[in-house]
Amino acid sequence: MNAPAEAPLYVQPFGEALLQGLRRQPRAVPPKYFYDAAGSALFERICALPEYYPTRTEIGLLQRHAREMAECIGPAADLVEFGAGAQRKIRLLLAALARPARYVPVDVSAQHLHAHARALAAELPALVVLPWVADFSAELVLPQPPPGARRRVGFFPGSSIGNFTPEEAVQFLRRCAVALAGGGLLVGVDLVKDPAVLHRAYNDAAGVTAAFNKNLLARANRELGARFDLDGYFHHAHYDPRAQRIEMHLVSARRQQVLVCGERFGFDEGDALHTEHSCKYTVPGFQRLAREAGLQPQAVWCDDAAWFSVHWLAAPPV
Ligand code: AVJ
Repeated sequence: MNAPAEAPLYVQPFGEALLQGLRRQPRAVPPKYFYDAAGSALFERICALPEYYPTRTEIGLLQRHAREMAECIGPAADLVEFGAGAQRKIRLLLAALARPARYVPVDVSAQHLHAHARALAAELPALVVLPWVADFSAELVLPQPPPGARRRVGFFPGSSIGNFTPEEAVQFLRRCAVALAGGGLLVGVDLVKDPAVLHRAYNDAAGVTAAFNKNLLARANRELGARFDLDGYFHHAHYDPRAQRIEMHLVSARRQQVLVCGERFGFDEGDALHTEHSCKYTVPGFQRLAREAGLQPQAVWCDDAAWFSVHWLAAPPV
């Protein structure tokens, strides 16, 4: 847990990740590369779409149950947020918390992270805010807890955990069990439901999700001088009920070639680049995963339609 503040950080650059992803079969790029400035703005728009229920539903749960959640977290917590995009959610949680010792937003994007930290610190002058640039999907290196902190607690909203495969989620939760020992994790998890509802949420009528998906190619054009023809690829998102996940792909509309960092890649019509998994869980299914990782599922909050869940997972002291 108590890693030195100067611990090395390595975030794989986008170009290298894209090249590796294009050389592999099946072709795949990790979803964290969606979130450059344009991608983050598109994701904000997704969150406001009528079809995209998770953000709204989770905010509703926080509005209704923040006090109970704060009771689980306890006073004087060192609160670590994984990802720093959930502005409204963290405000709802912080408002309910008793004397938080500190707030540590963790994100790979330093620019985004520092803007968020500055805004929150200005708004809540009594709150100690320490932005922490790190790729928590790779390892969990966190700053020393501040003096006076009673326990360390993680906040991971939005069902971002669904971007991990269940195996990767267990690995992440295991690292949480160690890093948050004596505290716990408050995590938002999207639930298995009518596939039609899921399909609509990832195939919105306004085409924002399609633009978000294609932004990966637009980003390659902007940052790497690649020449992806954005009209030459379709957004494809479908729910696989067996794997309990939405899969997003970019599918080539025709036979074409593209040059990325001097390397040529051929696509046949229908060839896909896999861009995202969004895994869905049942409440007991997710609790099983948490237990497997050494965490103790305690409280869980769901909306009336059981579309979304927020779990309090205690991390036993070591
Ligand atoms: C941020 C990973 C939770 O999976 O629903 C939204 C990302 N992708 N629409 C999700 C996303 C397409 C989102 N997460």
